[in-house]
Amino acid sequence: MKDRDNFGGRYGVLVALAGSAIGLGNLWRFPYLVGKNGGAAFIFIYLFMVVVLCMPVMLSEFVIGRRSGCNAFGAFKALSQEKKWRGIGLLGVFSAFVTLSFYIVVGGWSVDYLYRALHLSLTNRSTANLETLFGTIITKPWEPLIYLLVFLGFTGMVVLAGVKKGIERSSKFMMPMMFVLIVIIALRSLMLPGSMAGVRFLFRPDFSAVTPDTFLAALGQAFFSLSIGLCTILTYASYVKKDENIVKTSFLTVFSDTGFALLAGLAIMPAVFSFGISPGEGPGLVFVTLPLIFSKMAGGAIIAILFFFTLFIAALTSSISLMEVCVAYLIEERKVSRRRSVALCFGAVLLIGALCSLSQGRLSHITFWGKNLFDSMDFLSGNVLLPFGGLLLVIFAGWKMKKADVIDELTNGGRLKINPHFLNIEYFILKYLAPLTVATILITGWLH
Ligand code: TRP
Repeated sequence: MKDRDNFGGRYGVLVALAGSAIGLGNLWRFPYLVGKNGGAAFIFIYLFMVVVLCMPVMLSEFVIGRRSGCNAFGAFKALSQEKKWRGIGLLGVFSAFVTLSFYIVVGGWSVDYLYRALHLSLTNRSTANLETLFGTIITKPWEPLIYLLVFLGFTGMVVLAGVKKGIERSSKFMMPMMFVLIVIIALRSLMLPGSMAGVRFLFRPDFSAVTPDTFLAALGQAFFSLSIGLCTILTYASYVKKDENIVKTSFLTVFSDTGFALLAGLAIMPAVFSFGISPGEGPGLVFVTLPLIFSKMAGGAIIAILFFFTLFIAALTSSISLMEVCVAYLIEERKVSRRRSVALCFGAVLLIGALCSLSQGRLSHITFWGKNLFDSMDFLSGNVLLPFGGLLLVIFAGWKMKKADVIDELTNGGRLKINPHFLNIEYFILKYLAPLTVATILITGWLH
């Protein structure tokens, strides 16, 4: 396709992909799910899912995206005559929309906390005080909406600037900074008295607490954290040049995302145990524990600012990737200009996002299967749409595409020398093991 925007270079591709993958999923969702699902057992299952099942899903998205050079919907049009496969792309665009709608609520919280950190109003508070603070903040009607709007505004601005000038450039310097910060915070957290109980919680598994729900939660989280299952990676891959090594890039993305999640666990759990907070606290976990660590640190007020800035950026580099899925679809399939596509997404996401935000307070009486709208969207995204989308993606790559084409794309037409055993194993997982396992987990999880 002519005049299509592209990522500039190897480093740019990697930071953009890592930017999409590393986000609230690592810093906010992973720690609270680990806490809710009993710690180490969940982590072990999670790691298994990531290494064995998710890598092939990511490779499938890469292959479909780069080979077609199109948006989520156009990709299936380009690679197959059969109309039914295009449903995967539509589902992807819809799932990106659902995910973005609740994602920006948490993105808004990160802006709120950054603002408070800048005003030095987070440090020097007690545990109980911080727990109430979080509850008060998110249940207010107006304040979270304003922050949500700010967050969504930034997202829209980056997406408007385009792939190279917006997405790639913003990720390049933010990603390394995030790594440095999370390591500093984890080290400080480990130095707190009683922190070893947290480390034990993270790494000593108790498999008696494992249920089919644990598998579904771990699978959903793995998909969510790696940004797979709703054509985000596919869309980004369509901007990747033909001479990049996509196997290596996938591996590095998975590696950095998983490393970052574990670091986030090490930053949060030791503090949770040290301060006697319940690890099963839920979505507020990171917003309560981290300010506590900061209160105890020399220079904590500054670290608090840096951290919430990091959280904000991590969330931003991910939310832009979600919006880009919808925007690329509108531009290429609906022939709408980038500017209008962004405006359209902005309006629609703002509406649903506002309802999600209000469902924490004013609208909390409206529930679906016992969950408020926010929790329902979170659940729908992670436990239903992503694994289901991922399942369809591997079925397409494994059963619809020819093996020779998949291998051809992975090896850049044979020019890259990649160990054939590795390729065969990945292909076998992609074709048989991944669809079977994901389907089994989905079905047992849903029936449970
Ligand atoms: N992976 C991001 C995170 O961990 C969120 C995200 C971005 C995402 N794009 C996605 C999740 C696509 C699922 C699918 O915060």
